[in-house]
Amino acid sequence: MKELKIGNLLAKVPIVQGGMGVGISLSGLASAVANAGGIGVISSAGLGVIYNEFSKDFNQACIYGLKEELRKAKEKTKGIIGVNIMVALTNFADLVKTAIAEKADIIFAGAGLPLNLPSFLDSNSTTKLAPIVSSARALKVICRRWIGEYGYVPDAVVVEGPKAGGHLGYSHEQINDEAYSLEAIVPEVVAAARELEQQHGKHIPVIAGGGVYTGEYIHNIMSLGADAVQMGTRFIVTEECDADEGFKQAYINASQEDVTII
Ligand SMILES: Cc1cc2nc3c(=O)[nH]c(=O)nc-3n(C[C@H](O)[C@H](O)[C@H](O)COP(=O)(O)O)c2cc1C
Repeated sequence: MKELKIGNLLAKVPIVQGGMGVGISLSGLASAVANAGGIGVISSAGLGVIYNEFSKDFNQACIYGLKEELRKAKEKTKGIIGVNIMVALTNFADLVKTAIAEKADIIFAGAGLPLNLPSFLDSNSTTKLAPIVSSARALKVICRRWIGEYGYVPDAVVVEGPKAGGHLGYSHEQINDEAYSLEAIVPEVVAAARELEQQHGKHIPVIAGGGVYTGEYIHNIMSLGADAVQMGTRFIVTEECDADEGFKQAYINASQEDVTII
């Protein structure tokens, strides 16, 4: 399998584990994925709920929780650990500052356009920045701002199709429309990334996710030009996943008819 190179970060396996909030992907899952050669990702969403004993102040508990999870992950692996931070979170800025100060390898930011993400870096920062988008247009808008205002070219980009769930902005109709399928949007985002690459002389790896579940599908998506895939659901019922056993069991017990759009 092709390696995934993001600047000086080298993942031997081109798989990024998608950040999964409210205690699903913490240091346990992230370090296991990193140890296996992929990129492990801690989700920062809802850490204040898990660490509520540290502080009654939700934001303080989130900051403390993120530091703790990064520390624990670094104890368990020398591999690559990222943090997923949703733009829609009210404490987005504090979480980004914490991830950068704690030297997370990379931040993945979606659920909104992370237009000011590079503003949090300073000359000592080592953290790489990757926006999550669902169209080439969104990548172009972000790059216009990042490059125009901060002189910063994204280190990678994640493109998520409608099957990634989450906060992507697809309408109910678009979810089943082939024109918005991952297979349709990957080539567009790859083309936009290659164009930016030519203009700015920096490779922007494209990581594609949403419904990636088998080796065959990984092969198909990478043959459309993606440098790597992002997978979430696939990791949930693993031993190492940080989710509650009852949550994992609900996935195992689910049948096709239980899958629904909310
Ligand atoms: C339980 C769960 C929680 C998630 N939480 C987040 C999150 O906090 N932030 C985010 O950007 N994406 C989140 N996602 C989306 C994943 O990062 C990833 O893009 C998605 O799972 C990929 O699709 P797949 O599950 O079909 O592999 C979540 C997904 C799941 C299944």
